[in-house]
Amino acid sequence: MTQHPALPLYPHRHLLGIKGLSPQDIELLLDRADRAVAISRQPEKKTSSLRGRTQINLFFEASTRTQSSFELAGKRLGADVMNMAVASSSVKKGETLIDTAMTLNAMRPDILIIRHGAAGAAALLAQKVACSVVNAGDGAHEHPTQALLDALTIRRAKGRIARLTVAICGDILHSRVARSNIILLNALGARVRVVAPSTLLPAGIAQMGVEVHRSMAEGLAGADVVMMLRLQRERMAGALVPSVREYFRYFGLDAEKLACAAADALVMHPGPMNRGVEIASEIADGPQSVIEEQVEMGVAVRMAVMEALLDPRRSRDEAP
Ligand code: NCD
Repeated sequence: MTQHPALPLYPHRHLLGIKGLSPQDIELLLDRADRAVAISRQPEKKTSSLRGRTQINLFFEASTRTQSSFELAGKRLGADVMNMAVASSSVKKGETLIDTAMTLNAMRPDILIIRHGAAGAAALLAQKVACSVVNAGDGAHEHPTQALLDALTIRRAKGRIARLTVAICGDILHSRVARSNIILLNALGARVRVVAPSTLLPAGIAQMGVEVHRSMAEGLAGADVVMMLRLQRERMAGALVPSVREYFRYFGLDAEKLACAAADALVMHPGPMNRGVEIASEIADGPQSVIEEQVEMGVAVRMAVMEALLDPRRSRDEAP
């Protein structure tokens, strides 16, 4: 993709979260991502806007789709992409992060993509290195590119975000995807509901500007978008749900519960999915599901973000 002088300059060097972005910042990234979708649909997908730039993926948590999405995005922009194998590191995380950051910084990358189990890890890294940093998920804090790809999927299917009713359902407590989505959707004027059992709702959730529901029938009533979340059992200290079967019965998305939403409601899931736990297989694969589109939009959004952060119009001014 060539740089587009017509697009306004993106005003930030890092993407650490959706919090702090203006609606204009978000729309700018979505507009860029629309262009990246077109590139990705061509037989010839390689462009040169990040040619000569070095991208390092630093994933302290296991990830398949997000890491491969960032890798493909970088390659389609012509960057040199390196994946650091850190998931199996046994060193204490705080120390590892700073040490690794200093080592990587010395290799003069242009952009670092980090996923880490601790909230704030990406912001800490951004203070230590000279390059741009993208948060690919930090603990239960934020996952901004996921919220952007979700917004792009919704905007392309519905034509807008404003005034849509979006129900985010399931394990809100452990979900950085939910947090980033709540902030983004509110910024763009959607009506956001969260639906979960009390044990999976964080304290103070209502202060995030959402309607809180504890029943799927109520939370989904008339919704334009139903966003399901994975039950993050690996993050649960104790038993927060009685059993998987009971969870599915009350909070799993099946045909009966989906019938409460608008007839043309979109069904979304960030993946990886637990079929039969938070979503029935026939719904995940059904006509209202846009789960595969979300994956496609993921690559486009990550291309857009990296291109915006490394815009040569700004990098030139910031060069030492
Ligand atoms: C999400 C994540 O890691 O936060 N997944 C993803 O980005 N592919 C959601 C999840 O793990 O459930």
